Amino acid sequence: MYYIHSIRNAKPIEDRRAYPFNIPSILNLNELRFRSAVTFIVGENGSGKSTLVEAIAINAGFNPEGGTKNFNFHTKESHSELFNDLQVIRTSSRESDGFFLRAESFYNVATQVDELFSEEKEQLLNSPGKENVLLNLYGGSLHECSHGESFLNLMHKRFSGRGLYLLDEPESALSINSQFRLLARINQLVNHKSQFIIATHSPILLAYPDAEIYTVTQFGLQQVDYEETEQFRLYKYFLNNYQQMVTELGLHE
Ligand SMILES: Nc1ncnc2c1ncn2[C@@H]1O[C@H](COP(=O)(O)OP(=O)(O)OP(=O)(O)O)[C@@H](O)[C@H]1O
Ligand SMILES: [Mg+2]
Repeated sequence: MYYIHSIRNAKPIEDRRAYPFNIPSILNLNELRFRSAVTFIVGENGSGKSTLVEAIAINAGFNPEGGTKNFNFHTKESHSELFNDLQVIRTSSRESDGFFLRAESFYNVATQVDELFSEEKEQLLNSPGKENVLLNLYGGSLHECSHGESFLNLMHKRFSGRGLYLLDEPESALSINSQFRLLARINQLVNHKSQFIIATHSPILLAYPDAEIYTVTQFGLQQVDYEETEQFRLYKYFLNNYQQMVTELGLHE
């Protein structure tokens, strides 16, 4: 779509033995095209979603631990050199904003956001009458917010459009109402020429109109319609039949 056209697995099939190529979904992945502004990757725990999003992020120039392209902090070696074999094919457009959100290292990212902008904040604090500008720009320190608030702040205050945003389970800290707000924010950013690639378990986010949804299976990635996803079908079934389900799960015994 806007910035990333597709990814290709350049590793010869016979050499796909070690992590991450031994994960069935990645072993069988040859090419994945991004046709929509919003692409979702869904699948069971451990199916390879984070591995894939991380590989795209690293190859697109992001810090493996998350953040913008300017973030180069490193707390642990959590990615594999083998990710280089998953090639990212770009379009001719270049994004002017970008963010890679790894749910598990959001704390480190929050620290970086705070440090990166502390100088700018200091200047604003010392300018009488500019306190509101500060609040509008950053919503205060990300560490002074709850997990969910920090993430919404980041999306609303720092994501500026014309961006490439790679998000791994962005719903993890969000209430249902906040997920509605996130959907609306994604839409605003898409209207400002942004591309999203999102790994998620959320049936709410997946409802984004015209998104392309890929489900990660042991045979590779398969495109699926919203109402055919497990997230939609199982949530709907559970909510319509929760009394029967808790009985079936043996919770009344
Ligand atoms: N650094 C690593 N070295 C070897 N195997 C790994 C490494 N990181 C993850 N794995 C394995 O790769 C597989 C895919 O993991 P991944 O984190 O991509 O799954 P996921 O689909 O994101 O799951 P979840 O929904 O739980 O977040 C898992 O079996 C995991 O144990
Ligand atoms: Mg994951």
